Amino acid sequence: MLMGNNNSLFTNAIRMKKIERTPIWIMRQAGRYLPEYRKLRDKYDFMTVCKTPELAAEVTLQPIRRFEFDAAILFSDILVIPEAMGQHLEFLEDHGPQLSPKIINEKEFRKLRPDNLTAKLSYVEEAVRLIRRELNDKIPLIGFCGSPFTLATYMIEGKPTRNFKFIKEVLYSNPQFLHELLELLTESVVEYLKMQIEAGAQVIQVFDTWGGILPPHQFHEFSAKYLIRIIENLKAGRTPVILFSKGGIKLLQQLKESGADMLGVDWMTDMKEARDLVNGRFALQGNLDPTVLYGHREIIKKETIRILEIFRDRNGHVFNLGHGILPDIPVENVQYLVDTVRESSYKMYK
Ligand code: CP3
Repeated sequence: MLMGNNNSLFTNAIRMKKIERTPIWIMRQAGRYLPEYRKLRDKYDFMTVCKTPELAAEVTLQPIRRFEFDAAILFSDILVIPEAMGQHLEFLEDHGPQLSPKIINEKEFRKLRPDNLTAKLSYVEEAVRLIRRELNDKIPLIGFCGSPFTLATYMIEGKPTRNFKFIKEVLYSNPQFLHELLELLTESVVEYLKMQIEAGAQVIQVFDTWGGILPPHQFHEFSAKYLIRIIENLKAGRTPVILFSKGGIKLLQQLKESGADMLGVDWMTDMKEARDLVNGRFALQGNLDPTVLYGHREIIKKETIRILEIFRDRNGHVFNLGHGILPDIPVENVQYLVDTVRESSYKMYK
């Protein structure tokens, strides 16, 4: 296994160590807001980029070259797992991912082919190895996956949804079936993450994008329980795990005993409340409202410093947005954000 780079700003922030400034990376940092990404996508469709290690590596490095972020994140998608299990996956311009057929009952479930998952996803393994080689230990590489509940939501809904009709219908009418699917996804995700770590991923982030659509009393049973199991299964190695659940302080309350090394904080959560909730026991990541990046420099600066101030004289903060960057954000605003985080936090630490 490749080691090295256990001493970066990013990993030290996760470990609650004192460092000289706040590290920053951005969820969806490789993507359509970058002209160099759009240029590459004019030639190759999204899944071709994911499945071609050289292209995935190139796209992973684009935002690193431009902004010198403090961490790189593997370029891929959470939906490569259902695709590897045999669900047909297509990304439609303006309509997002479409998965078919919908896995709404036992009959559809039995059509899935979860065997040899890591072999089918060896293109991810190869991309991780290539990216690590090219990063040359300058910054750490984050590997990732979707949470079992988030993956199940896409697999059952088949496409992005407003009402979550099918997943909720299954949850209320046939919870045993949903648990069967979540069990399978938990095992698959653990196997997949171990493959990424073995190939060189130095930190793991689990995206629980849809956990927050569950009523708080259902969150543990259908999402957190499985997140905790994933973390327990990775604990033997010492790879730090970041959990990002979108859904406010209530979810953070339920995740504070999850064993995660760092929790992602969405932009709808008050960062001060989150800080007081975890009370220095582990690190937090976030949480600038992504739409602030549409604003003028004064607004970007004000909102950025507001977050940095919350962690003045404390360890354990990684700057990030409260969710992924939007595709039409001006790149110069991202540069301004990065500069502001570096300069302002450096002054605060002195
Ligand atoms: O952060 C990074 O730069 C790494 C790459 C990454 C992508 N998707 C690339 C991508 C990561 C970490 C993801 C995670 C992901 N994918 C999540 C969880 C995080 C979140 O944002 O909530 C989810 C829910 C997905 C599923 C997905 N993939 C959706 C809903 C969409 C369509 C919406 C959109 O932004 O277009 C995608 C497509 C996708 N994944 C793109 C990228 C760069 C855009 C595809 C394109 O180039 O056209």
